[in-house]
Amino acid sequence: MTKEKLSLEDVRKQAKEKLKGICGVYKICDGDPSRLCQNQSYKSSLGIGGVGSGASFHNNILALEKFQLKMRLIGEHFEPDTNYSFFGYETSMPIMGASTSGVKSFGGDTVISEQDFCHSIVLGCKEAGTIGWRGHTYTYSLNTPFGINAIKEARGWGVKICKPIKQELLIEFFKKAEEAGALAVGIDIDGAGSYAMKTHNQLVYRKSPEEIRDLVQATSLPVIIKGVMTIEDALIAVNTGAAGIVVSNHGGRVLDHTPGTADVLQEIASEVKGKIKIMADGGIRTGYDVLKMLALGAESVLVGRDLIRAAVGAGSAGVRVHMEYLRETLKKAMLMTNCKNLEKISSEVLQRV
Ligand SMILES: Cc1cc2nc3c(=O)[nH]c(=O)nc-3n(C[C@H](O)[C@H](O)[C@H](O)COP(=O)(O)O)c2cc1C
Repeated sequence: MTKEKLSLEDVRKQAKEKLKGICGVYKICDGDPSRLCQNQSYKSSLGIGGVGSGASFHNNILALEKFQLKMRLIGEHFEPDTNYSFFGYETSMPIMGASTSGVKSFGGDTVISEQDFCHSIVLGCKEAGTIGWRGHTYTYSLNTPFGINAIKEARGWGVKICKPIKQELLIEFFKKAEEAGALAVGIDIDGAGSYAMKTHNQLVYRKSPEEIRDLVQATSLPVIIKGVMTIEDALIAVNTGAAGIVVSNHGGRVLDHTPGTADVLQEIASEVKGKIKIMADGGIRTGYDVLKMLALGAESVLVGRDLIRAAVGAGSAGVRVHMEYLRETLKKAMLMTNCKNLEKISSEVLQRV
């Protein structure tokens, strides 16, 4: 199939074939309890769903559904501008590939290797004019830094998020990411609840404010704290000198019964907006969802599961096609709600139902 002809539907079809028994590639990935990936049994692998009952994953979608978009159509015509600057790097949209990892954990290793998976996300995002973030799991080490390798291949065009492992090792990963030319680094503090790391005897820790401060001091790159779900943690992140936070419950994969991210984003943003870069993820499936998150106070967003499927389905071309779809739907949402550019997006576009 040529690059030009690949459609979103082709990507989905190919993913469905390759992820048989793992993911239903439903029209909407909503974490409903009836879905194939949901309802993890005690001590069994997490797959691609949510932890435990799957409520935290599902809550992300339910939280976004509480907001609807207000149409504002009378006025001057314009072409919405989705261009976004991420720490000074110019991109085509405020939508990036989330830090994901672990094809072996979710059962995709028979169809794609971890290295190809990382490569697909980073390059596919780059081809769409945006940035792919990379994660960290138990198969990663300083000798097998799959995410950092992919970022290096893309001439540094990527962000590396590490698990909250031992401090000294974390700093070594940060140094390696720096050498690869990465745009930013960070930790998923909610990785302290990582099922995959725990079951493979890789120790992960809660991090103290001092430790986070030390990490910020240890690198010249901006440091991002991913997994912030409360005002308290957001304020601590600001005080450590971190450059950004991601309001995230890890796609509902680390703790059962957390709120959806769209339920907590606005209150967090009202406390720390302007003091730190705010990003968010969880359940974002279309540009309409992106607009909601931006209206609730995020500066940009990350997309996880949909890009995993795109990468498994059709590699970097699949990721590019998916990212372009997200940008197109964001443009439509902006046109229809009277937002000429990202600065014009505010809570005014939302109606709570
Ligand atoms: C299979 C899978 C693997 C993930 N691996 C990581 C990881 O290594 N590091 C990380 O920070 N987050 C990881 N995440 C969480 C994502 O970065 C992101 O927070 C989440 O997927 C967003 O929700 P969404 O999948 O509904 O878009 C993972 C998510 C999934 C589904």
